Amino acid sequence: MEHIVIAGKRGLRGEVNINGAKNAAVAIIPAAVASASVCVIDNLPHIEDIVSLVDAMTKLGCKCRFINRNTLEIDSTGVTSVTADFDSIKKLRASYYLVGALLGRFGEAQVLLPGGCNFGTRPIDQHMKGFEALGAAVAIDHGMIKAKAAKLTGAHIYLDVASVGATINIMIASVYAEGTTVIENAAKEPHVVDCANFLNILGARVKGAGTDTIRIKGVTELHGGEYTIIPDQIECGTFMLTAAATAGEITVRNIIPKHMDSVSAKLSEMGCKLTEGSDFITVRGSDSLRAVNVKTMAYPGFPTDLQPQMTTLLCSANGTSIITETVFDNRYQYITELRRLGCQVTVDGRIAVIEGHNRLTGASVTATDLRAGAALVIGGLCAEGVTDIGNVKYIDRGYERIELNMQRLGADIKRVSE
Ligand code: EPU
Repeated sequence: MEHIVIAGKRGLRGEVNINGAKNAAVAIIPAAVASASVCVIDNLPHIEDIVSLVDAMTKLGCKCRFINRNTLEIDSTGVTSVTADFDSIKKLRASYYLVGALLGRFGEAQVLLPGGCNFGTRPIDQHMKGFEALGAAVAIDHGMIKAKAAKLTGAHIYLDVASVGATINIMIASVYAEGTTVIENAAKEPHVVDCANFLNILGARVKGAGTDTIRIKGVTELHGGEYTIIPDQIECGTFMLTAAATAGEITVRNIIPKHMDSVSAKLSEMGCKLTEGSDFITVRGSDSLRAVNVKTMAYPGFPTDLQPQMTTLLCSANGTSIITETVFDNRYQYITELRRLGCQVTVDGRIAVIEGHNRLTGASVTATDLRAGAALVIGGLCAEGVTDIGNVKYIDRGYERIELNMQRLGADIKRVSE
């Protein structure tokens, strides 16, 4: 078991190159199964979720080859099985995109229910509703999602919630559906757009991704193609919040600043100084940041995936802040761990009240999920003394060796094996 050990040190300084987006990559890799051809995907983050996904793809019959550390070639020509019941499926959420890809290409899919971080109930009813509207019979049977259709036909689908997963899954499945599919109340996250762009490179006809109405005109064939993944909005935000929390100065490079608008706006409101260029943002923190209120929302709102990191930052602001989590019903499990560092946070349902101006002190803590782990890293960097973070495997699911980037910024942080 590995731990991350941090000797708290404020004022991180320097530059970080942001990796490709995890949540785009984990959609685009399974989407490649929809094409009976060869796809090359570049700017992939080297993280555990990708390792699990590549394992599942390989067992399904894809030939996967890393051309280099961040470029993956996937040859899906030889896929004949529509059943994905491997252990790796349970390790991540995004394995459910194999349902859309297999159903679209073969008219049938049997995929184990996905895993992923535990934020309370994470239903997939909107995915199933979409597949059914396209003409598939869908059921959950013995822990498997089973979908089957003699033929998929375009349909008008209104999502009850603007779900990222349902939007992408229905988009992938409907690529071959005869006629036009319209997804209303679609999620607008950058990775939805990225997946649509990837499908279009392969010959799909997807329009409107990034708005709340997506139209997909069915095609009869997808060819292969090369695609470069967008930068990771959440990794970028994590380092921006780290700059603020440690009263340092960090430049995040290789990013799309527009994707960061909600985060930049909050940091400015708190009193950070931001400089923005075409593909970078510099965040300069200070020791006297103001408390703010934050409501997590679907894009372009403040991302739920930065809520734990923001909570940690607000512990050192002047005054009382309120966070309202509107996306997931139970995403505050990490607060117990944060309190071990001296953070004063009370939680009532979806609301967290943070008493700022805390003096954090190092402690032994455990990551309860991926972004919670990142929040504890930020907490450890701000705390006096030594913080020992267990369950590092969660952090590795979404950050490529987070400690190395933090070290380059001057942090006293290391990974140790038990
Ligand atoms: N929802 C339903 N029914 C559905 C699907 C979703 O009610 O069929 C609800 C969920 O319970 C939740 C809300 O809709 O309350 C939004 O869920 P969404 O489907 O958008 O989330 P997801 O697709 O399961 C992705 C990311 C998450 C990120 C959320 C929200 C991937 C693999 N995961 O999850 O990323 O938090 O969107 O932006 O893309 C992370 O990276 O740490 C992470 C958890």
